[in-house]
Amino acid sequence: MIEIEHVSKYYGDFPAVTDISFSVGKGEILGFLGPNGAGKSTTMKMITGFLPPSSGIVRVAECDIVTDSLEARRHIGYLPETVPLYTDMEVTDYLRFMGRIRGMSSDYVARRTNEVIDIVNMGEYRKTHIGKLSKGFRQRVGIAQAILHEPDVLVLDEPTIGIDPIQVVETRKLIKSLGGEHTVIVSTHILPEVSMICERVIIINQGQIVAEDTPENLASRLHGVEKVELDVKGPSKDIADAIKAIDGVTDVEHRYNQNGGHTTYFISSEPDFELRSRLASTVVGGGWELLRLQAVGMTLEEIFLQVTTEEQIPETTDAVAEEAQQA
Ligand SMILES: Nc1ncnc2c1ncn2[C@@H]1O[C@H](COP(=O)(O)OP(=O)(O)OP(=O)(O)O)[C@@H](O)[C@H]1O
Ligand SMILES: [Mg+2]
Repeated sequence: MIEIEHVSKYYGDFPAVTDISFSVGKGEILGFLGPNGAGKSTTMKMITGFLPPSSGIVRVAECDIVTDSLEARRHIGYLPETVPLYTDMEVTDYLRFMGRIRGMSSDYVARRTNEVIDIVNMGEYRKTHIGKLSKGFRQRVGIAQAILHEPDVLVLDEPTIGIDPIQVVETRKLIKSLGGEHTVIVSTHILPEVSMICERVIIINQGQIVAEDTPENLASRLHGVEKVELDVKGPSKDIADAIKAIDGVTDVEHRYNQNGGHTTYFISSEPDFELRSRLASTVVGGGWELLRLQAVGMTLEEIFLQVTTEEQIPETTDAVAEEAQQA
């Protein structure tokens, strides 16, 4: 539904996005995750046709966003970072106005206005001036205008930013419910949000894609180590030595747990290695009592830090080296 091929965007000499490629399938919800300044909004502006790419191709519903912009934009609903709302308009009037700008007939706009007000749960506020709405409700009006013309693609730029926790929960539910029928890209820098809403995540940093996977796979695959915790009763040193001798194990730490009368072992190994079954058989085979064996996944926070800092370190070093050379 959305295809991005070797897209770059320069603001003057500054590369905000460099050579990114990805696609989003029909009905998929893709999370676009990255720190401030990563290039999320820039990418979304290019997908929605608000900003032409410096190079590369963006296609939405098989239409080129540059050469076939009008047709492509018919398929797109966009919630920009700052929603341009007219604060002196009532919710209903604003939505009707947006519909007319998009060339919807007055009957169609009237019907859809009622429908989207129901979808975003704003029935009570249909006659309220937008200026009097709380931030969360304004954000809902933003979502309502994005889905008004029944687009099959939704591009939502930080839809939950600045709204209170209760409304955040509601907004996330709403976005999730829009998946399936719509193809959705949601940008965020809130990590847990991505696990809650998205089926697939792209992590972008300094204008480049640094990771792409399901939230679950990212957690186990990306960091390149598998971690397991074990509680075992028995002689700590002998057990630790036996674990260290297992092929693929790279690190073992242990701590005695006085209350439980057992030792907890923190084990790191190479990934895709049948560590858990080897551990179990080593412990049981040694005649020791295995109380607990648990795989420890990396949190999205840890992955995020890892992929973003890994990218930053060499770049900084290169820049410093270049500067030194030039000096
Ligand atoms: N109009 C512009 N002119 C020059 N530089 C810009 C412009 N818009 C964005 N940038 C720069 O491009 C980079 C990417 O910005 P972008 O807004 O895409 O990031 P973002 O990932 O959306 O960040 P945030 O989480 O803060 O919204 C940043 O370094 C930003 O300063
Ligand atoms: Mg942004």
